[in-house]
Amino acid sequence: MFTRFRRKRINPVLRDLLQETHLSVNDFIYPLFARSGEGIKDEVGSMPGVYQMSIDEVVKECDVLKDLGIRSIILFGIPDTKDSVGSDAMCEHGIIAETVRAVKAAHPDMFVVTDLCFCEYTDHGHCGVLDPVLETVDNDITLDNLAKQAIIHAKAGVDMIAPSGMMDGMIQAIRKGLDSAGFENLPIMSYSTKFASAYYGPFRDVAESSPSFGDRRSYQMNPANRTEAIAESVADEQEGADILMVKPALAYMDVIRDVKNNTTLPLAVYNVSGEYSMFKMAAKAGVIDYDRVMMETLLGFKRAGADIIITYHAKEAAILLNK
Ligand code: PBG
Ligand code: ZN
Repeated sequence: MFTRFRRKRINPVLRDLLQETHLSVNDFIYPLFARSGEGIKDEVGSMPGVYQMSIDEVVKECDVLKDLGIRSIILFGIPDTKDSVGSDAMCEHGIIAETVRAVKAAHPDMFVVTDLCFCEYTDHGHCGVLDPVLETVDNDITLDNLAKQAIIHAKAGVDMIAPSGMMDGMIQAIRKGLDSAGFENLPIMSYSTKFASAYYGPFRDVAESSPSFGDRRSYQMNPANRTEAIAESVADEQEGADILMVKPALAYMDVIRDVKNNTTLPLAVYNVSGEYSMFKMAAKAGVIDYDRVMMETLLGFKRAGADIIITYHAKEAAILLNK
């Protein structure tokens, strides 16, 4: 008859008592995409349920999120104009600065994170200033600009910044910039281990941030590298990051566990656009039980070692968790 393992799986209450990993609405950060205009809420074909929104709609969306118990968002901006350096990102009247001010004015209790990068703001779509000879991003000039962008976000009232550009030394440069401007208490969540992934495809439709030439492999990581993945996060811990991140999540569960075991900081994972869209399309085709696959996956991130999950599923998962 039932022995050892199975005797503990018969009673559902005992099963719950013995559950090792738990998912909570407190684990989620919900991504939002802001653009100029009014009353705009445009769904993106490749990401059902995800919208480009004007600032007033972002502010309204925060009411919906708070009702569901979601208390943290990460903002991405779609500027009106792009140029070679991404000026909109370093301007106090740029799309992100304006969005942060509006959200914090209406929702002081919402924890607002900003993605800190240049790919949405440059006309070439790369994550910084280009070196004309190398035809890739110039690391050190971009560091100066990242510090400027961070101070713009800080002055607008952001609660945490999340640099995603994978420049070497970005955490140290941003920390120095923030500290010298008086923002010593502003935490940095680093996209510390970010791979050059095909899973970002749908995001680039939403954020209008595809590179106009080449790809991001000269700054984002090779998906094949496990040792380097740990080293990238360890370096950001040493540079003064407050929270680390592995991105994407689903194809990198081993890396999530590796980074968790080799660092002492809280760890976020980014459940990226391609992962989200695959589930949506599979559900539409009738081949998966969407809710159960989603919850199993989110729980899997926690089990792998994630403390925070940035996910487009946050609202749907919150509804199920609140039941
Ligand atoms: C910007 C950035 C990207 C994502 C988050 N921040 C895209 C990229 O690196 O091309 C991807 C998020 C997603 O796919 O959901 N650097
Ligand atoms: Zn970028």
